[in-house]
Amino acid sequence: MIFEQIATGGCQSYLVGCTETRAAVLIDPEIRQLDRYLALISQEGLRLHYVIDTHTHADHFSAAKRIGEMLSVPIVMHHDSPAPFAGLRLDDGEMLAAGKLRFHALHTPGHTRDSMCIVVEDRVFTGDTLLIGATGRSDLPSGDPDQLYDSLFGKLLKLDPALLVYPAHDYKGRSHTTIGDEIANNPRLQKRERAEFTDMMRHLNLSAPDHLTEALRTNMSGGKTVTELLSDAAAGIPFMAAAELNAQLGTRANDLVVLDVREQSAFDAGHIPGARHLPRGQLEMRVDQDLPDPTLRILVYCEFGMISTLAAATLRQLGFMRAAGLDGGFKAWREGGLPVEK
Ligand SMILES: [Fe+2]
Repeated sequence: MIFEQIATGGCQSYLVGCTETRAAVLIDPEIRQLDRYLALISQEGLRLHYVIDTHTHADHFSAAKRIGEMLSVPIVMHHDSPAPFAGLRLDDGEMLAAGKLRFHALHTPGHTRDSMCIVVEDRVFTGDTLLIGATGRSDLPSGDPDQLYDSLFGKLLKLDPALLVYPAHDYKGRSHTTIGDEIANNPRLQKRERAEFTDMMRHLNLSAPDHLTEALRTNMSGGKTVTELLSDAAAGIPFMAAAELNAQLGTRANDLVVLDVREQSAFDAGHIPGARHLPRGQLEMRVDQDLPDPTLRILVYCEFGMISTLAAATLRQLGFMRAAGLDGGFKAWREGGLPVEK
């Protein structure tokens, strides 16, 4: 078996391939590792057959939809998943074949209603149902401590104690454990009676994960994260550094427009000398009136360089084919000690 464990902060994802046939499956991919997955797949000479999300993640941004689209492979989730982009939905006990490998799905609701564990040969990918020394929480949308109890004590922990456990999270840099080790040492699994287990789960008082609403919004709908929106926009425009812009302004190029897209109050408080002002919120409505010449170079800036990236990408879509963004925004300009006009 070809096996790669890819960690992103505390999120763990896995590339599992068949040595003989080079067929592979990717489990719980995270959006920031998109390039790494694609590179690993080609480095190992693999062909991806499936992308599996073990559940609807509330705490990381899934790359499943993006990779599924890029490589034309089905996105696999449990039957109960709300994600409209899941093209292949599994029920309990079903199995996927990739080369000689078999991926057995166990429905293990509790952390979420759509949680699955995936058993492949000597190991089980437990998603957030079972973690090293912990379990997934059961207080997020569609979670249920009673179901988690049944999934753990009635199902997962009955598997071979020697099975290697690879969870979807570990925040302490550990790679795996075994079912037997967890039964013996996992503090939460020492509460073996239903009532004491569910009572413990109901009183964990965990804070909400970062980006909860954005993760649920994007993972349930297939929509883009704000970071993806920005990186897609950035991929279509060039940037200029503050010092270079300052040098070009010094040459008094007459086809270069510097466009400030911040709000009026920010513009009034100080801007790049000679900049024109057109707030982002009015860009599309005022562009024909304010920028009648589509052949101009337009260097767009905002405070940090993010809104201006979206604005410059919009200008390019509108036909201003020389629109570019100021790298680092007005903040970089100011911190570079460059002249400010009031
Ligand atoms: Fe989760």
